Amino acid sequence: MPHALTPWMIVHLAAAVAAIVLGATVFLRRKGSRSHRRLGRAWAVLMLIVIGSSFLIRTGGHYSWLHLLSVGSLAALVLAVYHARKHNLRAHRSAMLGLYVGGLVIAGIFTLLPSRVLGWHLWNALGWLS
Ligand code: HEM
Repeated sequence: MPHALTPWMIVHLAAAVAAIVLGATVFLRRKGSRSHRRLGRAWAVLMLIVIGSSFLIRTGGHYSWLHLLSVGSLAALVLAVYHARKHNLRAHRSAMLGLYVGGLVIAGIFTLLPSRVLGWHLWNALGWLS
């Protein structure tokens, strides 16, 4: 079935949804505290799972233009953590914002296109594809 959810898709999806929620929590809470660092580290691990699992999802058997987003997101994540460790707070903040909004939120919205697996199930369940 062309629109079946594979185990790696489920891992990817679960980590992405968790990263959206945890990321929003970190943005809303006080910055710089010990818990900011702890939650931030957990968020970075989730993003590594999202990005890593994306390379194991090859719809049609090949990499797609979306994998460029994965490479870009990995670079932004490495940069954001580097800036945090160097206490370059403005650069840390913009790299994290770019990764959260540019990578995670926009990637999530694109998932809802009817040609994608989740979008197909959603629009099909609503009866819009038949
Ligand atoms: C809330 C955020 C996200 C959701 C809900 C989500 C969901 C999914 C799902 C269900 C798939 C497999 C089915 C399909 O391609 O339609 C997928 C594939 C993929 N995702 Fe995500 N994802 C999210 C975020 C991300 C992020 C942040 C990245 C990269 C950093 C990413 C990169 C990819 C790539 C490269 C594929 C493979 C697409 C292909 O082969 O055409 N996703 N995503």
